Amino acid sequence: MRPVEIKPDVHWVGAVDWNCRNFHGYSRSPWGTTYNAFLVKDEKTVLFDTVKHDFLEHMLCNIAQLTELDKIDYIVANHMEPDHAGCLGELIKLAKPEKVFCSPMGKKAMDSYFHDTQDWPVEVVASGDSVSIGKRTVQFIETRMLHWPDNMFSYIPEDKLAITSDAFGQNWATSERFADEVDRSFLRRRLAEYYANIVLPYSPVVLKTLDALAGMNLDVDMLSPDHGLIYRGDDVAWVLDQYREFAEQKPKNRAVVFYDTMWHSTEKMALAVADGLIDQGVSVKVMSVKANYHSDVMTEVFDAGAVAVGSPTHNNGILPELAETLTYIKGLRPQNKIGGVFGSFGWSGECVNILTQWLEDMKFEIPEKGIKWKNAPTHETFQQCFDLGKAMGQALKAKL
Ligand SMILES: [Fe+2]
Ligand SMILES: [Fe+2]
Repeated sequence: MRPVEIKPDVHWVGAVDWNCRNFHGYSRSPWGTTYNAFLVKDEKTVLFDTVKHDFLEHMLCNIAQLTELDKIDYIVANHMEPDHAGCLGELIKLAKPEKVFCSPMGKKAMDSYFHDTQDWPVEVVASGDSVSIGKRTVQFIETRMLHWPDNMFSYIPEDKLAITSDAFGQNWATSERFADEVDRSFLRRRLAEYYANIVLPYSPVVLKTLDALAGMNLDVDMLSPDHGLIYRGDDVAWVLDQYREFAEQKPKNRAVVFYDTMWHSTEKMALAVADGLIDQGVSVKVMSVKANYHSDVMTEVFDAGAVAVGSPTHNNGILPELAETLTYIKGLRPQNKIGGVFGSFGWSGECVNILTQWLEDMKFEIPEKGIKWKNAPTHETFQQCFDLGKAMGQALKAKL
């Protein structure tokens, strides 16, 4: 993608990664992503963020269409994660900027990523600091743990523009640059997927940040994350509202039943649990962990008020792909879930206790004992599983 002027003299100079599939521990990011970087031409020429290392040449070509590289005076590095700063070292060598701005935690991350930074012209900035670049000023707002310690936002009041690093991003490679140019429901899905898989553990920080931003009364008519589409006009308020809703994690009348199965017994139990939830008017998604990537299961868990998990007993434990999915989900700390567990077994039958422990560790509310069944399920098994789903549905409805 060639540069796009998003405001007068403010240009998107990033890169579209159409084929990105593995990202931030996501097992899959099926829609690709973008690395957004912005060049502002004022008395000073300023580059906000860079791109993943593989896309350095791409960004350099974009910059070359607007200015010579050595005309870049300042680089603002809002975040040191390699998808945004992986080519910072080369860029500093090539452009020889007068200053590189980063947060105090950004400086620490910079030193531990690049090691030979002693000659870099770094200026550390904290919340409330600002720098004049001519007709414009750049204000810095630290957003620690949204989602790394070093993240910060850059705000240009004269352009009513906020550049928000990873916050409000979506993993979606598009030829469009603005959120109002794409399908809204699909955008919301990508935004939720990104939140569920990257931002969710930091939800308390999101709420604090949203309150702090509201208190600052910033005039923003364009908000540009470092991944995906840029919000402008009414979309700015829309995405802030979406983030508040995501961070609050209020229960929804949706459920996900995910499982692994060896000889299809646990799978049949999963379908019966789903029927019990459906009986209570809950919208249900059933997901085998063999057929779904853990990041896709996580997105559904995030969007669900009730979560049922099934595995047969396997070598006195649970099946490894299910354990992998649970490990991933636990790390993202979903809140306010009703839980239920089930599984078949051959002789020792530990699966239900192990799964219950997983859900208890995540502080899920478990209204009913788990269901386990020896070898092939019967009508009685299905009735028990149906009743489990029903009890979960009733517990969920009591919370809505
Ligand atoms: Fe990041
Ligand atoms: Fe990122």
